[in-house]
Amino acid sequence: MSATAVIGLQWGDEAKGKIVDLLTDQHDVVVRYQGGNNAGHTVVCNGQTYKLSLLPVGVLRPQVTSVIATGVVINPKALLGEIEGLKSRSMPVGSNLLISDRAHVIFPHHVAEEAALEESRKDNAIGTTMRGIGTCYRDKAGRTHAIRVGDLYYPDIFRTRLADIVAQKNTILRALAPAFTPLDAGQIAEEYLGYAKQLEPHVIDTTSFLHKSLAQGKKLLFEGAQGSLLDIDHGTFPFVTSSSSSGCGIHSGSGVPERSISRMIGVVKAYTTRVGGGPFPTELNNAIGQHIRDVGREYGTVTGRPRRCGWFDAVAAGYGARISGVDCIAVMLLDVLSQLDEIKVCTAYDIDGERTTDFPSHVEALARAKPVYETLAGWKSDICGVRKLADFPKAARDYLETLGELLGKPVEIISVGPDREQTILD
Ligand code: GDP
Ligand code: IMO
Ligand code: MG
Repeated sequence: MSATAVIGLQWGDEAKGKIVDLLTDQHDVVVRYQGGNNAGHTVVCNGQTYKLSLLPVGVLRPQVTSVIATGVVINPKALLGEIEGLKSRSMPVGSNLLISDRAHVIFPHHVAEEAALEESRKDNAIGTTMRGIGTCYRDKAGRTHAIRVGDLYYPDIFRTRLADIVAQKNTILRALAPAFTPLDAGQIAEEYLGYAKQLEPHVIDTTSFLHKSLAQGKKLLFEGAQGSLLDIDHGTFPFVTSSSSSGCGIHSGSGVPERSISRMIGVVKAYTTRVGGGPFPTELNNAIGQHIRDVGREYGTVTGRPRRCGWFDAVAAGYGARISGVDCIAVMLLDVLSQLDEIKVCTAYDIDGERTTDFPSHVEALARAKPVYETLAGWKSDICGVRKLADFPKAARDYLETLGELLGKPVEIISVGPDREQTILD
């Protein structure tokens, strides 16, 4: 029992990256197990800001082994770009990075297909990150059009399979978007074989590595991407990502049984944000929402899109906490609320006149949910310098206590700024 997991309980961007970075020096191995370069994890350390997408946050500490496990979808060009970006900042990535040979590969046709599909959905678009994540996972589930990292090391078979796949994709893409210029399978194959050569030193059977690490008593840290409400099975479908982004995905995405995890940390913002489409009951389309966006710098790490902002939704985050099975809560970005006179927390929904604390399974019901709020006093003072729970203004402590009670789990970590030092460990 020597593993920890960090899981977002909302719609992503809960500041999981900061928590993972804080915990890396107590762990030997950091594991990304789902998602891809749709994730954007910002870490501020030693006065430097790093934005990691596909690479686990562990790469910022070379003594830690970082693993991109089986359940991740990999765009090799993006991955090599990220590695190059770190190298240019004197943070080289070498034998400290391991990549699963079972992980699936994102190709140009995945990105093109996603663009065409999103375009065709018009006002009802999912609002994806346009990275080909959903189309790659779809092909993985479909099996016939999928290529895994390990396949890149059988060049002849790979070239033949890719030629078949791209021929069919060109037909589909031309039907979706008649102006589409067909993709050249031969060119893509050689390009990807080049990437494969560069990545080869990192590619192994990561499942076997993780099991050996556990047997050796090494400490594992699982880095969730996205958030529980974006989970393909349990989230606000279809406005979700295409992987198991709640705690449910750890086992399937890494091959490590969940019973190996002794501490599951659920990360929440002190309010709620969402990027892309889909219902958001506590969304604030007003001056307070804009204030939160400005103070919290709520713009997407990956796409730069303004994030939708709203009050903390305990019905949604509580559901996220239950499906992910968290032991404790990290409340992040509490400082962002410091200037508000009063702060609201959604404690229940009113759906068609019925009050409920259950999170609806259908987005149409969620879209009709009217939040029932509890209003708390604001603390109206700067808390960025607070380092001990006892030093918070009483109103801030009351707010944290309310969140803990509503989520039914202890608040064990509080964050009052992006820096490592701006963290209170209770
Ligand atoms: P992730 O995807 O869950 O890792 O979160 P993101 O990195 O996308 O977004 C969180 C943002 O909040 C990042 O820019 C962090 O640097 C920043 N951040 C983290 N903790 C705090 C905090 O306590 N206060 C403030 N103001 N910013 C924070
Ligand atoms: P991190 O790890 C916030 C959202 C997209 C879109 C939906 C589907 O930084 O928390 P996709 O490209 O995955 O098919 O998009 O999911 N989304 C995220 N929102 N944070 C993320 O990652 C996200 N990754 C995907 O905005 O609504
Ligand atoms: Mg993010």
